Parts: sequence; structure tokens; C-alpha cells
Amino acid sequence: MNLKPQSILVAGGGSTFTPGIVMMLLDNLDKFPIRQIKFYDNDEERQNKIADAIEILLKERAPEIAFSASVDPAEAFTDIDFVMAHIRVGKYQMREQDEKIPLKYGVIGQETCGPGGMAYGMRSIGGVLELIDYMEEYSPDAWMLNYSNPAAIVAEATRKLRPNSKIINICDMPVGIEYRMAEILGLKSRKDFVVRYYGLNHFGWWTDIRDHDGNDLMPKIKEWVKEHGYVTPSELEQQGNEEVEASWMHTYEKAKEVSWLDPETLPNTYLKYYFYPQDEVEVSNPEYTRANEVMDHREKNVFSMCNQVVNAGTAAQTQLEIDDHASYIVDLARSIAYNTRERMLLIVENNGSLVNFDPTAMVEIPCIITSNGPEPLVMGEIPRFQKGLMEQQVAVEKLVVEAWAEGSYQKLWQAITLSRTVPNARVAKQILDDLIEANKEFWPELS
Ligand code: NAD
Ligand code: G6P
Ligand code: MN
Repeated sequence: MNLKPQSILVAGGGSTFTPGIVMMLLDNLDKFPIRQIKFYDNDEERQNKIADAIEILLKERAPEIAFSASVDPAEAFTDIDFVMAHIRVGKYQMREQDEKIPLKYGVIGQETCGPGGMAYGMRSIGGVLELIDYMEEYSPDAWMLNYSNPAAIVAEATRKLRPNSKIINICDMPVGIEYRMAEILGLKSRKDFVVRYYGLNHFGWWTDIRDHDGNDLMPKIKEWVKEHGYVTPSELEQQGNEEVEASWMHTYEKAKEVSWLDPETLPNTYLKYYFYPQDEVEVSNPEYTRANEVMDHREKNVFSMCNQVVNAGTAAQTQLEIDDHASYIVDLARSIAYNTRERMLLIVENNGSLVNFDPTAMVEIPCIITSNGPEPLVMGEIPRFQKGLMEQQVAVEKLVVEAWAEGSYQKLWQAITLSRTVPNARVAKQILDDLIEANKEFWPELS
């Protein structure tokens, strides 16, 4: 097949994930040829540190690909087929606030769940809508593949406020867990099985996992998860994994207790924040949260490796690594570009796929991806336990988007109060007032 080469814009060019994604794209050029890569960010200095290294790397490894980095939307968004969007409005400094403010009140502090996730949502919505508007102005035929967080709130905002836009919201957590399931099963790849799954982003369950001959693989995985969570057999043997940080190992272990709530299904790891919020507060350090961990490790490492490439004038010795697990983004882009009809989990409008659930909710379910976009699959009726949890959480997400659109203090207070992670309305208000103060520069004014 003669595949038409694509033009890619990475929005959030200064992201810690950018080098890994570029290298993953280079690793997949046979399946997804590229004629141009552009970077866009609103922080020129940060983006340039990454871009200068990537320019050298591309010249050495794929000189046929045109490369540029810009903070000018017209320049960046013109002549683009796909926007790969991973921005973090407010950067790690604000993530730190999202995590530390709720923890002051004994409530979980997390990037996407609970009050921290809502605070991040109130910043992200405007940033992602702006990217959509630039894309529609300068490359109206392009698609945006968005994994900027908090994906659930961003997805609801784009559904409500940009209903006709060509944006697809996706999360890598199910992919990451499926890698672990493959290891637990002793299979080479997660592509050796097909899954049924339903839920919201960072809030879902696998209901069926079968190999290509139709054999049910769920019993074996369930048996393992009930005892060990998503810790893999080799991690168990070696008591950890050098590449996986301790906080993530804790999450994989905790999936054991999460799985006990429903023996019929297998859970997403993020449910731990909703089922055991107090346990998570207990293992958190209010003085040193995940944002600090990421700033001290991933951010430092990525920027210093880029700096080394620039100083050496070559990427020959670089330790920058391919983000192999991000290849799901190629699967998605390729399916749209070449109509390969890949089956993937996406965050899409329910519209009847979960028959007994709000048709306007943004749900995470399997879809067949065509060059016209996703065709969601029907996952049928969902049980009362999950339905109850999901209705509460969808209401939280919708209230945040309404609060942003209407500038409503009341609705954001309601949203925080409604979250399972928050004990009562008074605490919700204290957290909200602190978050407003911290987010002055980023949130719309609330009244
Ligand atoms: P990062 O802070 O290193 O990078 C984000 C970049 O976005 C920064 O360079 C920043 O300057 C830029 N930015 C901020 N606001 C912008 C705006 N309005 N316009 C253009 N650029 C803007 O963050 P990171 O840790 O690398 O993560 C990037 C994003 O990817 C986050 O939203 C993170 O939550 C998300 N993420 C999502 C998934 C998923 O599964 N959906 C997985 C991994 C990361
Ligand atoms: C998973 C989630 C992402 C989230 C990331 C946080 O991959 O699916 O949505 O952004 O974890 O990772 P970090 O290393 O930044 O804490
Ligand atoms: Mn995610």
C-alpha cells in the first residue's frame, strides 16, 4: 500500500513526553510515514530546549522530515494533518498546588481525580479549546488527538462547547494496564487479545478479555489480580521494577483491593482514589507530592538529556528513549489516515452505547476507528454499583464544565462537594476558596 506521508503538530512541544513521542514516531515510519513534524507551545524557552535537541536528532535519523518549532499559532497550525495535544496549563507549579491544597484538608491531592483534577480542569478547558480553534482556522481538515488532562473534563468541555470539532480524547492508562495483563498471561503483546470495557476516563472496568480464538482470558487475570493487583510476575519476583517508581508500584498493588469490589470485572487503577480515599491520603506526603517527584526526576532527566544533545551537537550517544507504550497514538492516527479500522478505547459521547446510562455522558468504551472518526461499540447495560458511581462522577465532571462556562462559584462548590473524595460541603468550600486564590491567573472569574 502506498501510504500518504503525514504532517504532525505536537502541541505542548515543551512537554516531558515530547522526545519519547518523536522517537516513537520515528520507530513507526514504515506504518505511518511522516513528511513534517512541528512543535507548538506557549512557553518559547521551555519548548526550545526540547526542540533544539530534536532538530539535531531528526537531522541525523530522518533528514527527509521537515522540522520547525514555533509559538506562533498561524505558523504552527498551518498545513497539519494531526495535532497531537499534550499541554499542561499552569505546568508543574500548578500541579503541585492541585495536589497540596486538598491534602491540607485531608483530601486526596491528585492530578486528575478529586478537587485537584477539577482545578486542573478549570485551567485546561480554555487551553484545549484554544488549540481546537487554531486547528480549525489554519488546518480545518486536521484531527486533534488529545491526551491533555484531565481528559474526562476536557472531553466533556469539547462535547458541550465545540460539538463539531474533530478532536479525539484518549488515555494511556488502559493501554498500560493491558501491557501488564499480557505479562500476567505470558503473552507477547496486548494485541494478542480483544477487550470489552466501559466506564469514564480514569474510572472504568474490563468486562471481557479474549484471545483471537475466542478463549476467555479473564479468569486467569482475575485470579492474579485478586492476589497481586497489576504487579507483574517478574516484578513480584524481583520485588519491584527499576523503571517503575515506587508510587506507581503502590498503585498497581492497590488494584488488588480495588478488584475485590466487583469479582465480575477488572478495574482501572484510578478507582483506588474513589474506593479508598483515606488510604491514599495516608500514604501521601503533603510536603512532597507526585508533582515534586516528577519535577525531580522525569523533568530534570528529559531536559538534561536534551541539553547534552545540544552541547554535543549530536544525538548519537543520547539516552533519550522511545516511548514505546505511546505507540497507541500511532495506531489511532494511522486508523484515521488510512482507515485501518483499529479497535481502541476512546472517550466518546455515550449516545446509547451504555444503554441504561446518560446519553450525553462522555464515556470510555471500545470504538472502531475509521477515516471518518470513531464508531463506538455497544457495551450494553451496566450494573447498579457501577451505574451509581458513574452517575455521581459524571455529574461532577459536567458541573465543572458548567462552572467554567458560566463562571459559577456555586456549581464548582457543588462539583467538589459531590466528589466521593471529599467528606463534606464545608471542607469542599475551604478547598475551593484556596484553589481560587492559587488559580487567579488561570481560571475565569467565579461569582
Ligand atoms: P509538561 O508540563 O512537561 O508539558 C506541558 C507543556 O504544555 C509545557 O511545555 C507547557 O508550556 C505547555 N502548555 C501549557 N499551556 C499551554 C497552552 N495553553 N498552549 C500551548 N502549550 C501550553 O507536562 P507533561 O507531564 O509532559 O504532560 C503533558 C500533558 O499530557 C499533561 O496534560 C498530562 O496530564 C498529559 N498526559 C496524559 C496522558 C493520558 O493518558 N491522557 C498520559 C500522560 C500524560
Ligand atoms: C497515567 C494516566 C495519565 C497521567 C499519568 C500521570 O499515564 O493515564 O492520564 O497523566 O499517568 O503520570 P505522572 O508520571 O505524570 O504522574
Ligand atoms: Mn490518563
